[in-house]
Amino acid sequence: MAQTVLITGTGRPYALGFNMVRRYLEHGDTVFASIRRPSEALEALREEYPEQLHILTMDIAVTESVNAAAAEAEKLTDHLDLIINNATTASADTMKELPDFDLDLIAPAVNVGAVGPIRVLKAFLPLLKKSAIGGLVVNISSEAGSIGKCYRTFYLDYGTEKAALNMLTMTVHNYFKNEPNLNIICIHPGWIRTNPGNTEAPLDPYEHAETLRNLFETKRHDKEGPVFVTYEGAPYPW
Ligand SMILES: NC(=O)c1ccc[n+]([C@@H]2O[C@H](COP(=O)([O-])OP(=O)(O)OC[C@H]3O[C@@H](n4cnc5c(N)ncnc54)[C@H](OP(=O)(O)O)[C@@H]3O)[C@@H](O)[C@H]2O)c1
Repeated sequence: MAQTVLITGTGRPYALGFNMVRRYLEHGDTVFASIRRPSEALEALREEYPEQLHILTMDIAVTESVNAAAAEAEKLTDHLDLIINNATTASADTMKELPDFDLDLIAPAVNVGAVGPIRVLKAFLPLLKKSAIGGLVVNISSEAGSIGKCYRTFYLDYGTEKAALNMLTMTVHNYFKNEPNLNIICIHPGWIRTNPGNTEAPLDPYEHAETLRNLFETKRHDKEGPVFVTYEGAPYPW
């Protein structure tokens, strides 16, 4: 059965968000793909799928921007079945260690990478609640957000925002115990070649987008299983 999906951070053709958009479109689904600046690649995809693809402009760091995008979506659909919070950020200092890291860069990164997804969820929740098949939220986290497994001396911003995203996911998961039609998970998606300069990563973004699409369907109604999972569905340490 075709579903209606919102995916954030979808403008880069080599990155995960864009390739997930492609996979859902190919599967016959309707996709709301969000960007914060124009994307030629996404425009070309819209020409290919004019009935299925809607492009939303939304800066997930800004509540008014997210609320405006949700209002626009409400004119085009009466429900959402899946929200994939894929957009994220890292500061220019992300590879630096404490003595060289500008700590004032952490809060803005957390605002995008942790609060942003929950801002999106809150704004689009009325549409998600109207899903006939059960609304699912997938927050794309990272092993870098695991406190238990943390080994790095850098990623002061990125690791913090993903750990905060995990906490927010679990808190909303608890809230959803009273919402039988809704579920939420966060996932470590694996190491993917989402950057043209990165040829070392083992996973191809287009191929891997299908693995993730299939995994998400196994989690739609799984409210008792692990909430922070790998791309194979195994529990990952918080
Ligand atoms: N790649 C990996 O191996 C890997 C590993 C673990 C986890 N992940 C996670 O997987 C997801 C996708 O990774 P990726 O490498 O494909 O990501 P990416 O290339 O860094 O893309 C991030 C996207 O987020 C958007 N974005 C940034 N700030 C935003 C804002 N304020 N509002 C709206 N959109 C914003 C960017 O838009 P612009 O194009 O406009 O900058 C971009 O499209 C991320 O959540 C990442 O943390 C990836």
